[in-house]
Amino acid sequence: MAKKTIADIDVANKRVFMRVDFNVPLDDQLNITDDRRIEMAVPSIKSVLDRGGSLVLASHLGRPKGEAKPELGLAPAAKRLGELLGIDVSIAADTVGPDAQAKAAGLEAGQVLLLENLRFNPGEKSGDAEFAGALAAMADVYCNNAFGTCHRTDASMVGVPAAMEGKPRVVGMLVAKEIQYLADTISSPTRPFLAILGGAKVSDKINVIKNLIGICDKILIGGAMAYTFSLAQGGSVGGSLVEPDKVDLAKELLAAGGDKLMLPVDTRIADKPSSDAEISVVENGKIPDGFEGFDIGPETAKLYAAEIASAKTVVWNGPMGMFEVKPFDEGTNEVAKAIAAATAGGATSIIGGGDSAAAVEQMGLAEKVSHVSTGGGASLAMLEGKDFAAVNLLDEA
Ligand code: 3PG
Repeated sequence: MAKKTIADIDVANKRVFMRVDFNVPLDDQLNITDDRRIEMAVPSIKSVLDRGGSLVLASHLGRPKGEAKPELGLAPAAKRLGELLGIDVSIAADTVGPDAQAKAAGLEAGQVLLLENLRFNPGEKSGDAEFAGALAAMADVYCNNAFGTCHRTDASMVGVPAAMEGKPRVVGMLVAKEIQYLADTISSPTRPFLAILGGAKVSDKINVIKNLIGICDKILIGGAMAYTFSLAQGGSVGGSLVEPDKVDLAKELLAAGGDKLMLPVDTRIADKPSSDAEISVVENGKIPDGFEGFDIGPETAKLYAAEIASAKTVVWNGPMGMFEVKPFDEGTNEVAKAIAAATAGGATSIIGGGDSAAAVEQMGLAEKVSHVSTGGGASLAMLEGKDFAAVNLLDEA
């Protein structure tokens, strides 16, 4: 069911509590190394400011477990957001303490305040009602624009909107767009509907595979996960990364998937995960001892590209190999290029967050696909067909 968005409601002279996901990667010098999550929150923030509202923004960063950890402070995010908006974004020294309360109360139309990392307070993860109530009291409107955190039931995701019953409670445009692609498109896809699933572990993708087997026309498997499937088929995997305790499950998934499930036909192997290793290509399931699989092989990449070319809806989650190290990035690159080409030809393409999003960014193809999710765990949970409490309790359109 469609949710009311921030653009649908009057925000003039109102204070909006907007939960954002500014959980962005930082280097040792606390520089943000990927600001996509901040950038993607900007349209909703601007929409409030342009219409005469003010904003109390709230986010977590990392997992500080209820303690204030200086290296996980949100000052770098406030600075970056200020640059993107072209205005000063003030930051509170705490979450619901005196500084946050005073700064929130003093907000004027057109101003933005970012609270300090919500997870510095133990009440955020425990969903504490008092903490949620103190956050809720800061604003007139609740907006969930934190797609990456939508699978969590933290205080700011569920307790705050619950405490704001009777006031407008809406989704931001980022969350609306993520739901449009990851839930709506997938539940009524234009066919053929193809999923490409990679990554290291079958165990991370069990529920995604189970859910997608029911709705996809084809599922292409890559990444180290393919070696556990290979074991299940009686193949040799050498020293490849496998999950021996998931072999029975892989057998079950193979039986349930039938022809829908496509496995690699060849594998790029090496004696170590390095560009100067002894590298070759073998048939799938024929990896000798002393070698490991690090990518799908060129034949598989060609076959997968052909499947992608004939699809009308494509969902991709998880790289095809160890794409951080050349030449084990080739399979992932070929898949990304094929998805961009299919999109140019009219297909709808959805890239799950995490490594596959990083891969399309790295290749400069992010603008050539329909949607790159900002959620890691959240996009997986949505592909599993899960319901989000943090979205369910918001106002219907
Ligand atoms: C993420 O990066 O996936 C989100 O910000 C959620 O973070 P969490 O897994 O620590 O809840």
